[in-house]
Amino acid sequence: MRRGCELLGSERKTKAIMLIKNLNRTKISYLKTPLSKYTFEAPRIKRWVEKEVEGKVLNLFAGKVKLDCEEVRVDLNPKWNPDYVMNALQFVRNIWDLGVNPVTFGTFLLDPPYSFRKSMEKYNGFVSSPFNQLKDAISQVIKPGGVVITFGYQSVSMGAKRRFVQDHILLMSHGGAIHDTIAVKERKRE
Ligand SMILES: C[S@@+](CC[C@H](N)C(=O)[O-])C[C@H]1O[C@@H](n2cnc3c(N)ncnc32)[C@H](O)[C@@H]1O
Repeated sequence: MRRGCELLGSERKTKAIMLIKNLNRTKISYLKTPLSKYTFEAPRIKRWVEKEVEGKVLNLFAGKVKLDCEEVRVDLNPKWNPDYVMNALQFVRNIWDLGVNPVTFGTFLLDPPYSFRKSMEKYNGFVSSPFNQLKDAISQVIKPGGVVITFGYQSVSMGAKRRFVQDHILLMSHGGAIHDTIAVKERKRE
C-alpha cells in the first residue's frame, strides 16, 4: 500500500513538505481563557500579547484595553480615546501623509471585529475584502523583520504571498460550545 505523501501530485507534495518544514519553525501555544468582547480584558491573552510584541506597536483596532508597551492606538470609536480616530485601512494607506513613519514600528497589531473576519472568510479569493486590502497596505509599509500579530479564526494572516513567515501561533480555548480563537504572529522576510 502506498503512503499518503506518495498519493500527492509532485507540486502538492512539495507544498506540503514546505508547510511541514515551516510549521517545524513555528511555535504553537495553547491557552484556556474566557472570551471577552474586548479581547485583552482576558489577563492571560493580554500578557501573551505584551510578551510577543517587539518594539513600538501600531495597534490598529485598539479598542478599550491599553497594553503595557509603547503603542500608537487607532480606532474608529472615539470613546476609547485612541491617538487617531480613524479607519485602520485609511490610516495605513495615508501613514506618511499623517506624519507617521511606519519604519518606527516593530509590530502591527490586528484585533478586528467579527465582521472583518467574516468578510475575509466569505470573499477570500474572489473579492478583496477591506481586511485583505489592509493586509496588502501593511505589507507595503512594514519594515523587513517587522511583526504582524493578528487575532481571528485563521493561523495564516499575512501569509507567504506577502513574504511573511509564521513565528508563533496561539490557540485560545474558551470552553463549552464557544469556538476557539487563534492569534498568529508573522514576520516580514528580510
Ligand atoms: C475586537 S475590538 C478590539 C479590542 C481590543 N483589542 C481590546 O482588547 O480592547 C475591535 C475594535 O475595532 C474597532 N474598529 C472597528 N472597525 C474599525 C476600523 N475599520 N478601523 C479601526 N478600528 C475599527 C472597534 O471600534 C473596536 O474597538
